[in-house]
Amino acid sequence: MKKLIVVLAGLVVVVWGVLLFMNRQPQLPKPADQMPIEEPDDREAEIPDDENKSTLPIPPILEDTDPSPDRAEFHIIAQNGTMEFVPGVQTDTMGYNGDYLGPVIRTRRGEEVAVNVENRIDGEMTTIHWHGLEVSGEDDGGPHSGIQTGETWTPEFTIDQPAATLWYHPHPEGNTGRQVYKGLAGLFIVEDEISDSLNIPKEYGVNDIPLVIQDKRFREDGSFEYILAGPDIMFGLQGNAILVNGETDPYLNVEKGLMRFRILNGSNASIFDLRLDNGQSFYQIATDGGFLEEPVELRSLILGPSERAEILVDFSDYEDGERVTLAHQDFSFMDFVVDGSSTNDYSLPTSLAPIEWLRPEDATLTREFVFLGMGPNVNINGKQFDMDRIDEFVSLGDTEIWVVSNQSGMGMMGGTVHPFHAHGTQFQILDRDGNPPPANEAGWKDSFVVYPDETVRAIARFKQPGVFMYHCHILEHEDAGMMGQFLVE
Ligand code: C2O
Ligand code: CU
Ligand code: CU
Repeated sequence: MKKLIVVLAGLVVVVWGVLLFMNRQPQLPKPADQMPIEEPDDREAEIPDDENKSTLPIPPILEDTDPSPDRAEFHIIAQNGTMEFVPGVQTDTMGYNGDYLGPVIRTRRGEEVAVNVENRIDGEMTTIHWHGLEVSGEDDGGPHSGIQTGETWTPEFTIDQPAATLWYHPHPEGNTGRQVYKGLAGLFIVEDEISDSLNIPKEYGVNDIPLVIQDKRFREDGSFEYILAGPDIMFGLQGNAILVNGETDPYLNVEKGLMRFRILNGSNASIFDLRLDNGQSFYQIATDGGFLEEPVELRSLILGPSERAEILVDFSDYEDGERVTLAHQDFSFMDFVVDGSSTNDYSLPTSLAPIEWLRPEDATLTREFVFLGMGPNVNINGKQFDMDRIDEFVSLGDTEIWVVSNQSGMGMMGGTVHPFHAHGTQFQILDRDGNPPPANEAGWKDSFVVYPDETVRAIARFKQPGVFMYHCHILEHEDAGMMGQFLVE
């Protein structure tokens, strides 16, 4: 009898462990549901310009219409569009200055920037938020900065943060998930003297390549709609196909040498575990908010929704025409084809950029944020988003420690992963459950994944005044109210 109880107890622990583990795994598009576009087995035999594959689209750099060197002016139009992701099938989309996604806004530290954002979306309010940018609450583009159809909003700000790959996307209350899913997102790149001086690839579109990775749930006919079913309300909308820069299963010709990729997980809810299918390692050189101190060698890069990473991949040992595949776990979604005729001899830097480490002893306050609830009840600290309520008051210029823990769905199915994000500042992760963060998280972060039952401590200085959001970046959770507001003054 005693033995049986021990065995049963053991079994319960094992099953619990497996459930927990399964839930800690990124929730991914399943290869079996992938669109019938290409059989992954005979990759080796394919030629690069295989009819079924398209070259990777490279979003254009948006023109700066201000001639003076230290000022920039940009024009963005949010609009409806249509796209043919699968041959012969049109899907209604939204895009900035085009049908899907948007151009890259490239700025420099110290530059004064004005952006004219016009809303031409049929009968739908939008906002445009500069994710990761340190600007005042008024210019941040959160839910309070609604732009009605036909209106233009013109925030102006000065870029005052290190070189980084940031991004922009809409943030209307309750409708962010749908607008992003339809295609509203783009990269916002900041350059500075350090990014200029590093001997790393920096020719945009040639050896410095943006990869906006997003999953979509295509229906049988190859169209997609934003329709939420039960599991989507629980876990956020997860797809059955992965797009890169809006293209399914693309390929990119790469230089024989070192290539730089600026990766954004632009998915509504999915966490990616990125790998090269041949097991080759690569080097992460930047996190959300800028360069790491030194490159970090990885074979697997976990990126939650809204997180960015810049990586360097060395293709110098391949023959002309050889193919390397980028995969999410073992699900391949894009190919690099080595072009032996274009070579470069960049080398991996030993150090990248100094980081000013914030010191816990300088923190004036420790604040706690607890992810709670499931499905329509998701909340932070027991409260759902209310546009008229400020949840936290921060003194301008202060350094604080934010302790974020994930206790949602405790005791049920192991819970859900929630990526935490706050506007208007960049954090440094102090620890995860008391342990130092992995080396590739030892840098500036504006978003970080918090696993079920985990506690993450992060430190930030609040240098920008105004009202800002903090929320879960699973957009269906954010829209359901897993968001709060803090006022810095
Ligand atoms: Cu990516 Cu509240 O933002
Ligand atoms: Cu943001
Ligand atoms: Cu969440």
